[in-house]
Amino acid sequence: MDRIGFGLIGAGRQADRAHARAIVHSGLGTIEAVCDADEALARRRAEQYGLPPERCFTRYQDLLECSAVVAVTIGTPNHVHAPAAIAAAASGKHVFCEKPIAMDTEEALRMLEAVRRARVRHMTAFTYRFVPAMRYLRHVVAAGHLGTPRILRSRRLMDWPDESLGWRQIKSQAASGDLGDMASHRVDYAQSMFGPVRAVQGLTRIFVPERRLPDGRMHAAEVDDWCAFIAEFDRGVVGVFESTKLARGYGQGDHGTDDFEIHGAGGSAFYRLRDPHVLELGAAGGILAPVEVPVEFRAPVGTGVPPLSAEPSLAFRENQMYEFIDAVRTGRDCSPNFLDGARVVAVVDAVLRSATERRTVDVQRVD
Ligand SMILES: NC(=O)c1ccc[n+]([C@@H]2O[C@H](COP(=O)([O-])OP(=O)(O)OC[C@H]3O[C@@H](n4cnc5c(N)ncnc54)[C@H](O)[C@@H]3O)[C@@H](O)[C@H]2O)c1
Repeated sequence: MDRIGFGLIGAGRQADRAHARAIVHSGLGTIEAVCDADEALARRRAEQYGLPPERCFTRYQDLLECSAVVAVTIGTPNHVHAPAAIAAAASGKHVFCEKPIAMDTEEALRMLEAVRRARVRHMTAFTYRFVPAMRYLRHVVAAGHLGTPRILRSRRLMDWPDESLGWRQIKSQAASGDLGDMASHRVDYAQSMFGPVRAVQGLTRIFVPERRLPDGRMHAAEVDDWCAFIAEFDRGVVGVFESTKLARGYGQGDHGTDDFEIHGAGGSAFYRLRDPHVLELGAAGGILAPVEVPVEFRAPVGTGVPPLSAEPSLAFRENQMYEFIDAVRTGRDCSPNFLDGARVVAVVDAVLRSATERRTVDVQRVD
């Protein structure tokens, strides 16, 4: 099959750093068009990707008219995900949409219905599923090495300055703060191993209610900058999640703390993003010891070949895009897809409601 022609909807940081780079690096896709609401940025990206002016758009509806575009990536603020994904599916384009896929469960369900009706491939970007140690951890759990899983714990802690977060701090564009932005990845990962979360009890805070814009003015922050919740899974597992970008001195991005622990009846496993090729394992009665992740868990899923990039933080992002491209080329389902994305949005909605109503809330079933 020929290489897959991509249109980028939203050409900001994630689209350039994670999507465009991975498409080009894969050797299996080409960038055929770009769209960003910011016209100057759209032009800059078009030049960067070697596109002629007629393949550069400010409206995704116009990009979707382009026949060279077989698949789109959606890397816009969260409130644009649903309208862009639904329009893309209706145009017969395969859709790779950033997380959280939607502003709420109802919107996520409409997206799921649209891609199913159009029979296009659909994927969302729970990027950390592709980190070698997380892939290996899933294997360790599935192989029964920890015995019956009981308890999991996730902490995503970073140190971002009190400056403006742009659309990320506006409720009508982001829906939630750290919850949808950071904790959502970890909820997806847990659900991918232990099935749906049944009920949650959550707490959120806005510790920094105003943030400084580049021009010095202050701008209200409308969404959580700290969240924590406990979760009950269908299969009896319980989970504790915490996420914030206010952990001073903890660094940013891949340097921040991203820990995930599982305690089973027969042992424990501990993963941290800073060591993406190492997992700590301990059997009952013993102590945790580092184990090198076998090389097959570093390769793109199902290939056994080395990762595209030698740099670990790029390799798992490229392996994520490989999953989408390979699914489009072979006509198989993607993982994680919009069903996984919708199940996470349902958990986010339940945590927000739980925090507001100060009670345990059941998570809406999504199938
Ligand atoms: N998977 C991950 O690990 C990961 C990491 C970072 C961001 N993200 C997600 O990626 C998305 C984008 O985040 P970002 O950090 O790149 O933000 P960003 O602000 O850098 O980029 C968003 C871009 O979308 C453009 N845009 C806004 N409305 C648009 C519209 N209607 N049509 C076309 N373009 C439009 C903006 O002008 C901007 O350039 C978010 O959903 C975010 O949650 C995911």
